[in-house]
Amino acid sequence: MSFAISNELRARLERGGPILALTGAGVSAESGLATFRGPGGMWEGRDPMELATPQAFAADPETVWRFYDWRRKQAAEAAPNPAHVAFAALEQGRDSFRLVTQNVDGLHERAGNRDVLRLHGSLWRLRCLGDCEEHDNLELDLGPLPPRCACGALLRPAVVWFGEPLDPAVLHRAEQFAEEADLVIVAGTSALVYPAAALPEIARLAGAYVVEVNPETTPLSERADVHIAGSAGAVLPRLVEVAGIA
Ligand code: OAD
Repeated sequence: MSFAISNELRARLERGGPILALTGAGVSAESGLATFRGPGGMWEGRDPMELATPQAFAADPETVWRFYDWRRKQAAEAAPNPAHVAFAALEQGRDSFRLVTQNVDGLHERAGNRDVLRLHGSLWRLRCLGDCEEHDNLELDLGPLPPRCACGALLRPAVVWFGEPLDPAVLHRAEQFAEEADLVIVAGTSALVYPAAALPEIARLAGAYVVEVNPETTPLSERADVHIAGSAGAVLPRLVEVAGIA
């Protein structure tokens, strides 16, 4: 696949300023994980209001858990792809690289990123509806669903559901990264879900150059400085190369 790299993008990749990456489900598509929207997406034939809201969980925790248990198993079977590997190389090669993701699958971490700001939480963390601490859990057999905490209360996946606010500290950090960024790489997101979708705009207003990597156009495409219409797995390794990171 061939695509042009503008002089401005090349200059910003080379000059070592703060780079912010904002990723979405499309970055994991080449690992075999379905995106949410569009044909074949996870929300096709499924109602997010019945699977990804606190109300749905209160009404039917078993059904909600079956969905998340399935997603944990799918994510565990998937492997990081060249886009994930490229983001890990950027983190290792640049002190001022920041990764903010909407993904909950853990593939960025498995590719080697140590500092992932997870806007929407993680499939691999569980939250007790009682008073116990939220904790990591990588087990693929959670036993009978819905799983319960040692204290007896229900456990839920520590992900952000529709109608729930993002962790204010996490959002604040993401907004700070956006304000400080010299270059923003937005990859694999439909740019429809807020507040994540506002980050590129915050960055642009603060002077950053915004590049979107997505085979399709999105509401961001015409506001970004450049839209590279390619897959993240093909484009990101090339950007890493231009940044001079081996
Ligand atoms: P979406 O499913 O909305 O969008 C995925 C985007 O990835 C689309 O624009 C695709 O064109 C693009 N895409 C597909 N394959 C790609 C590839 N190989 N390389 C690059 N891009 C590709 O997923 P998100 O934008 O992540 O929230 O969705 C945002 C949020 O909505 C999710 O975090 C989730 C969902 O409902 C919650 O669950 C709170």
